[in-house]
Amino acid sequence: MSEQQEQIVSRKKEHLELCKTDAVQFKEKTTGFEQYDFLHSALTEVKIDKIDLSKKFFGKKVSYPFLVSCMTGGTSEGDNINLKLAQAAAELNIPLGLGSMRFALETNDYDAHFMRIRKAAGKVPIIGNIGAAQIVKMNSFKPLFQLFEKVESDVAVVHLNPLQELLQKNGESNFFGIKKSLKKLVKQSPIPILAKEVGSGISKQTAQILLELGIAGIDVAGAGGTSWAGVELLRNKKSNENSFWDWGLPTSFCIKTTAELKKKYHFTLIGSGGINTAFDAAKALMLGADFTASARIILQTLVKSGQAGVVSLIREWFDDVKKIMFLTDSQNLRSFGKEKLILKKDSF
Ligand SMILES: Cc1cc2nc3c(=O)[nH]c(=O)nc-3n(C[C@H](O)[C@H](O)[C@H](O)COP(=O)(O)O)c2cc1C
Repeated sequence: MSEQQEQIVSRKKEHLELCKTDAVQFKEKTTGFEQYDFLHSALTEVKIDKIDLSKKFFGKKVSYPFLVSCMTGGTSEGDNINLKLAQAAAELNIPLGLGSMRFALETNDYDAHFMRIRKAAGKVPIIGNIGAAQIVKMNSFKPLFQLFEKVESDVAVVHLNPLQELLQKNGESNFFGIKKSLKKLVKQSPIPILAKEVGSGISKQTAQILLELGIAGIDVAGAGGTSWAGVELLRNKKSNENSFWDWGLPTSFCIKTTAELKKKYHFTLIGSGGINTAFDAAKALMLGADFTASARIILQTLVKSGQAGVVSLIREWFDDVKKIMFLTDSQNLRSFGKEKLILKKDSF
């Protein structure tokens, strides 16, 4: 293994260890979901047994408006985690995000693993993943497309993580040319290309530029959950007091504002970043997300309670989402909108 590959492996290991804890949570800043309450309907007529949460994700019907956010890979533990997440996603019939495929690109050693992932995931949509810092440097996307094909990715996401790269020791914070690269990638890719942040959020302004470039889906991955500035600061043993720890746009704000673009563009909006309860997931959907997603809580549940624990967690969340739909008189996801949320400050 080259020195650079060894660095990636030890970085991924440290990321995993830190994300198993709550030490990397945002400190003061929150997702903003706590500012909302549900508009209780005392006159509900919803038939709770008839609520259907299934939805199409890029042409494939899945059982819940939820996906497993992209996580890790490149270490034996990371690969094992992805395999278990693939099995959980298959059992739940929900899309599965993969961690960055950068390592696989550099080692050419991943064919068998990717085939195991696809086998474990069955037919559920798989989301390939690569960093913006990598695509700006690529002369050809062919090797990347070959990887997408090996795992039979239905779509792929480019992660935009300027804050993380900026604070990471040996991070790659040169994103010059990213818009041009994204446009080229979208044009050449055989599958739809999505974009995501990793916890600092995507603004409506940025989302609009991405949509103009041809991006087919946006995962806002906003602030209030895992702080990747926090992860890198802890890795560097830098002070906890760093102001950048809490940098970013709250998830609820990103979803609400980016959803306004649906009037003009056709795209899939994924609301993530600090989705840690059924109530968070419900509010994300009500504010305009087509799908919601989580990362660190899924990892923590997997470590604590295994694959069965992940399956139970998501089933329990969406049983609760159905109860919230019942109590807000929302028979289906279409009628489960922001008009059924109130700002808590307005109810006192
Ligand atoms: C252990 C771990 C590894 C991650 N690795 C990746 C990655 O390789 N690519 C990526 O796009 N996002 C990665 N993420 C970021 C998540 O997809 C997500 O955007 C972020 O953690 C915010 O969601 P959360 O608050 O639910 O954790 C990772 C997250 C965790 C917890």
